[in-house]
Amino acid sequence: MKPLYQRDTALIHYQGKQGNEHGALVAPIYQTSTFTFENLEQGSKRFAGEDEGYIYTRLGNPTVRELERQMASLEGSEDAAATATGMGAVSASLLANLKAGEHVIASSAVYGCTFSLLNEQLPRYGIDVTFVDMSDFKEIKQAVKANTKVIFLESPVNPHLQVFDLEKIINIAREHHIISIVDNTFLTPLLQRPLELGADIVIHSATKYLNGHGDVVAGIVCASQEQIDNIKGTIIKDFGASMAPFDAWLISRGLKTLSVRMERHCQSALTIAQWLSEHPAIAKVYYPGLNEECGKALLGNQMSAGGGLVAIELHADFEQTQAFVNKLKLFTIAVSLGDAESLIQHPASMTHATYSLEARHKAGIADNLIRLSIGLEAAQDLINDLDHGLNGLNNQSVAGLDLYQQA
Ligand SMILES: Cc1ncc(COP(=O)(O)O)c(C=O)c1O
Repeated sequence: MKPLYQRDTALIHYQGKQGNEHGALVAPIYQTSTFTFENLEQGSKRFAGEDEGYIYTRLGNPTVRELERQMASLEGSEDAAATATGMGAVSASLLANLKAGEHVIASSAVYGCTFSLLNEQLPRYGIDVTFVDMSDFKEIKQAVKANTKVIFLESPVNPHLQVFDLEKIINIAREHHIISIVDNTFLTPLLQRPLELGADIVIHSATKYLNGHGDVVAGIVCASQEQIDNIKGTIIKDFGASMAPFDAWLISRGLKTLSVRMERHCQSALTIAQWLSEHPAIAKVYYPGLNEECGKALLGNQMSAGGGLVAIELHADFEQTQAFVNKLKLFTIAVSLGDAESLIQHPASMTHATYSLEARHKAGIADNLIRLSIGLEAAQDLINDLDHGLNGLNNQSVAGLDLYQQA
């Protein structure tokens, strides 16, 4: 679908936006579990797909549908399917495209529960998964088997924000008739649109920037009409991870301010990443586009800005890393991201505790790695808070330390 307006405008005046009978500026919430039929004939026709209209909220709801239209318009997809959580979107996109005996190639570094879904759940249903370093195109090609059906990745990666060349990876998938699924949670459709690069499916944890206010868990899948019809008509219908109307309404409300929020998140995150790069207590800073190692070459084409997350490795062992985090006042210790509040978390013991030590090593998630979600507070106040936390550290080199101990 070619966008009608620039994306800032499309957040508010998206293609397919529906009016309502009373002309309310803000659409009402259809807080209902079921929909009534005028007679039995109409009900039967609706079930047979011969009559347009809603049946039951697990199968579809006008408030949820509005958000789906809004997201399809933003990602540039034919349609979208809303899910109860981001993991609902990850699992629906995978399960709808896989069956026993088939194979997935996945990035070795992904969100912790995506990793356990791929590493523990899918094999229980006879689906084989190979984890690869997505920056190594040779390794990806070598992992392709006759039964490979899906390539799954995030870029930037949760937690250390590594950026991959999406177009190159998607092209490898296309050459082998493999479906590519990209988790676009960290950059949102305002900063990166993988479907325009040829990806088949984009998923989001709408819990994060799309909603932006830390009060909803939700997910969304954006793809072709055929994919969305299949995902809704099989996995969402029968496994049941559909979105609640009130959650959809809150996310639609959040989306209206996405562009102003992202602008602030990005500006502050870049300022903080640059400041951290100069600090003697910091061993490494990860911020998409910050330097060559952080995917600078892809800035301006694949992604228009680096987003609101910064990851750091401290010159510190696990105990000193804990002391730093505990000293902060403005950064709240919590998982999740993309909210007004700045959040801080320790991937090795929190979001990525689902990884074995070996898998964590392969994915590069060390004990001294910290992920910061830069909120909407003044950047200087956040820098002052970090400075205070870092001051207590003795800045000793981590060379020679085993940074993969914390289970
Ligand atoms: C990149 C990414 N994808 C998916 C998810 C899962 O989303 P949810 O927590 O909404 O289920 C998360 C959660 O943190 C995430 O960071």
